[in-house]
Amino acid sequence: MNKSSMAQGDEGEERWHHGINPSFQEADFFIFGKLINNMQKKRVLSGIRATGRLHLGNYLGAVKGMLALQNDPDYETYYMVADLHSINTPYEPKELAKQTREVILDYLAAGIDPQKSTIFIQSQISEHVELSYLFSTVISVARTFHLPTYKEKVKLQPENVNMALLYYPILMAADILIYKANAVPVGDDQLPHLEIAREVTRKMNSKYGLDFPEPEQFKTKGHKIPSLLGEGKMSKSVEGSYINLTDDLKTIKEKLAKVPTDEGKGDKVPTRGGVATLLSLVDLFEGEKRKEEYEKAYLNSGIHYKDLKEKLAEVIHEELVPIQKKRSFFEKDMNKVDRILVEGAEKARKTAKTTLAEVRKAMGIA
Ligand code: TYM
Repeated sequence: MNKSSMAQGDEGEERWHHGINPSFQEADFFIFGKLINNMQKKRVLSGIRATGRLHLGNYLGAVKGMLALQNDPDYETYYMVADLHSINTPYEPKELAKQTREVILDYLAAGIDPQKSTIFIQSQISEHVELSYLFSTVISVARTFHLPTYKEKVKLQPENVNMALLYYPILMAADILIYKANAVPVGDDQLPHLEIAREVTRKMNSKYGLDFPEPEQFKTKGHKIPSLLGEGKMSKSVEGSYINLTDDLKTIKEKLAKVPTDEGKGDKVPTRGGVATLLSLVDLFEGEKRKEEYEKAYLNSGIHYKDLKEKLAEVIHEELVPIQKKRSFFEKDMNKVDRILVEGAEKARKTAKTTLAEVRKAMGIA
């Protein structure tokens, strides 16, 4: 149902509240309208690996998009912690559950709301894994070998090239398609994986007559946050490249102080390196106008990086303070967090089971 017809539903509700009985047909229309509304909502799925606390790249590239869609009545949102995607590289088994909780806490602190979104842990919905096996029958080994993320991991850790690494995008396709998600709020680094999910959709639909939607990236303004080191992207696996959502002002100042810069002026504003990173963070946290002022200064009188970094650290910190306060509130009530996860898993499982049953039937599996 579109927004204008939803407004009609709200009007009906309004009249009930004011004690004016709508006619039978109107009430009927209202209930029917709500039902259709839920059926026609677009679905959203996103996830973050359980590798500890979130950084600004995760927040700006994924969580901000997750929040925008959660607060849009046209969407039904499912948000998980991808713990199974965290065990294909060396990890500490004793720490995994804690790391998973850290991501959940960051979700809740950033404003992911269990009243609006289904929040759950990937491994608790075992249907994802079963569906991924069924999907693996339509994707060739060669296709997964050629993914940039796989090649990167092979280069970085040649001693740890396991099957799960190759399976990564297939499991991710199952994560998304088991909820028949149309929109996936993720940063640009996940685009090659999303492409696999789109291929799975096309193949499963044409081969087995299924009705999976082709999922699309929901892109935020911060879809590609550069590293503080001035090279590559902000990443948990590169020390010194990131600011965590839990960092205090002193830490943020220290991290920004280390961003490499130049003499502060020249005839062309840098589009790469530390200066470009700083300008892109200014754009995201202080606005485009402020960024343009710095760019003008670069071409004329020059930028004082010390002042720029101090101001930027303060503005970033200001945005993080309410998130940090909310986090400490949830940290004190882990029972509540556990209840949220139990409810989330129940709801997610119900949808996941329905899709899995459809696929099994279509593939002729009894
Ligand atoms: P992960 O845990 O590496 O990253 C989580 C999210 O943060 C985004 N991100 C960034 N965005 C912009 N700039 C950056 N520098 C930056 N760094 C990280 C990522 O794009 C991602 O959106 N495979 C996924 C987890 C996953 C998933 C899924 C995501 C598993 N199943 C299904 C969506 C749907 C991953 O490793 O994300």
